[in-house]
Order: sequence, then structure tokens, then C-alpha cells
Amino acid sequence: MTVQRRGNTKGPDANGIEKKIKRGNALRQASAWRGSRGPLLLLLGAAALCGAAGWLYVSSWDGEITETLVSRGELVTPKPRVYTVQCSEDYENYKRYPGCTPQRCGRAVTDSVVTREEAQALRRLAERGLALAGSEGGASILDLHSGALSMGKQFVNIYRYFGDQISEVFTQEDFQLYRDVRGRIQAVIAETFGLDPSLMYLTKPTFFSRINSTAAKTQHDEYWHPHIDKVTYGSFDYTSLLYLSDYGSDFTGGRFIFMDPNGNRTVEPRQGRVSFFSSGSENLHRVEKVTWGTRYAITVSFTCDPAHGISDPDLP
Ligand SMILES: *[C@@H]1O[C@H](CO)[C@@H](O)[C@H](O)[C@H]1NC(C)=O
Ligand SMILES: *[C@@H]1O[C@H](CO)[C@@H](O)[C@H](O)[C@H]1NC(C)=O
Repeated sequence: MTVQRRGNTKGPDANGIEKKIKRGNALRQASAWRGSRGPLLLLLGAAALCGAAGWLYVSSWDGEITETLVSRGELVTPKPRVYTVQCSEDYENYKRYPGCTPQRCGRAVTDSVVTREEAQALRRLAERGLALAGSEGGASILDLHSGALSMGKQFVNIYRYFGDQISEVFTQEDFQLYRDVRGRIQAVIAETFGLDPSLMYLTKPTFFSRINSTAAKTQHDEYWHPHIDKVTYGSFDYTSLLYLSDYGSDFTGGRFIFMDPNGNRTVEPRQGRVSFFSSGSENLHRVEKVTWGTRYAITVSFTCDPAHGISDPDLP
């Protein structure tokens, strides 16, 4: 990808320095011949400074390379934008499920699987559910499948805690929308990675998240650490994120970052945008800290192992 571009920028720079040194040498010979060293020393000094500045520039730049894979303002439609990444070697240690286990690994983004209206409806669902409680720190989750909802420093089960009242918060239509969207995400992942969708299973946890800039109170609030989903969640083979709010206008910070050995690559959330990737260590990632506003998203993940499959969330 842009690795090439980066390599090239370094090239001309280094060449420039070399040229300056050669020019310096030529001038030294010339001036030695003329017997006047003052201007030469100045020139050499300037060349050395340029070299040092160039080196500092390149190395500081290398330390925080950030490439935007997809910005908030772009519209990725009708086909997903796909970035292939070599599968990590970890897959050799996992049981293989033909038709599902990644043969090709990578990441992709699409804005044409979920409409903004649908994302808006899901966001309202998240807002209503999370309004029932929420973390004391800046990161709250609501898992419709298990019923887990952040409350203070821990979690409660919404279905047990709120009992019948939950039907005043969520409707059958809400769950139907979740199921439809889940099915479409499954289909686009299968198509993109060349899988049989009937051999992929929804897996847990599958949850809504709400993040704002309030400081973390417990480690459950610390969403920004780099991690590998397959390691963190075991059962995950494909992870997807559906964004329910817009980077830049609903919140700042909160970009999704793939941490590659040669640079960081970001996806900027956009309401209705789906980003998905193979869950192995080829996709080490983190979420940047939210600095302002509130960021809503849903994590929907799939496993190849039927034993780890779960059914769609439903009202009890
Ligand atoms: C973040 O959300 C919590 C509710 O979970 C709220 O109490 C807090 O005031 C919010 N912080 C900011 C900075 O908006
Ligand atoms: C990626 O970002 C992290 C900070 O989030 C930084 O420590 C690391 O050096 C960056 N990686 C590259 C290769 O630029």
C-alpha cells in the first residue's frame, strides 16, 4: 500500500543529503586549492544541520505514521473497500473449519449495508437501553443477547433487573432490525472473504457501546488498549463494527486504528458504516480515546466453531 510511498520519500531525502556532502567535498577541494576555508566550514556546517534535521524529520515521522483508510466524509459504495493483509501464523494453531476459517485475511469498510436511517434507529435503541444505567467511567456497554448492561462499576442483567418493564424500552421491531442488520453483515463478510455464510455463526459478546470522554473508573472502561480479538474473545473469527454516530460532528477522537508493524491505519466512524476484519493478530487494533461528545457503535462478531455460536438476541 503506502509503504512504497513512504520508502520513496526517504530515498530522495537521503540522495539530497548525499549530494550535499559531495558538493561539500567538491567545494572543500576547490576552496583548499584557493586556500580560503571560512565559507567552506559554514557550508559543511549547514550540510550537517540539514542532514540532522532530515534524519530527525524522517524518524519522528516513522514513529507516528497514520494513514486514513477511510475518512468520515467519504462514501464507500456500492462495493466494500477491501485491504488484504497476510494471515498471521496463529491460524496454524487453530482448528480449521472449511468454508469459514480465513484463507484470506484483511479488513474492509462499506457504507452500503446499513442505511443511515437504520443506524439512527439502532442508535435510539442503544440510547434507550443505556439510559437505564451506564458506567461511572466513560465506556458503557449493552449486550442484548446476555442482557449485560454497565451499571456504575459493574454490570447488571437488564432482563432480570428490569423484568417486564423491558418491553417498554425495546420492541419486537428493534430486535427484528438487529437481526436483519446482523444477517446483512454476515452476508457481506462471507462475500468479501469467499466464505459460506451458513457456516458462520453469531458469537458473543455482541454489544452496543457508548463512549464519552469521562475518565475510566474501572478497567472495563479502558477500551483504548491495543488488542487482538481472537486472543481477547477466543471464539471470534470475524469481527464487525457498525457505527451509529459520526466522527467529527457527534464526537472527536474515537477513531478505529489498525496497528500495523509499519504504521497505524485509521477508519473514521460514520453513521451506518460497517467495518469488518479477520480477528487474528494480523489485525491488532485499538480505539483512540474519545476527546469530546459521545460515540455509539455495535460490535457484531462471528465464529466458525458451531459450539461457540449463539442465537440472535430476542425479548425474553
Ligand atoms: C459521559 O456519560 C456519563 C454517563 O455514563 C455522564 O454521567 C457524563 O456526564 C458524560 N460525560 C461527559 C463529559 O459528557
Ligand atoms: C502507532 O501508534 C502507536 C501509538 O498509538 C505508536 O506507539 C507506534 O509507534 C505507531 N506505529 C508506527 C509504526 O508508526
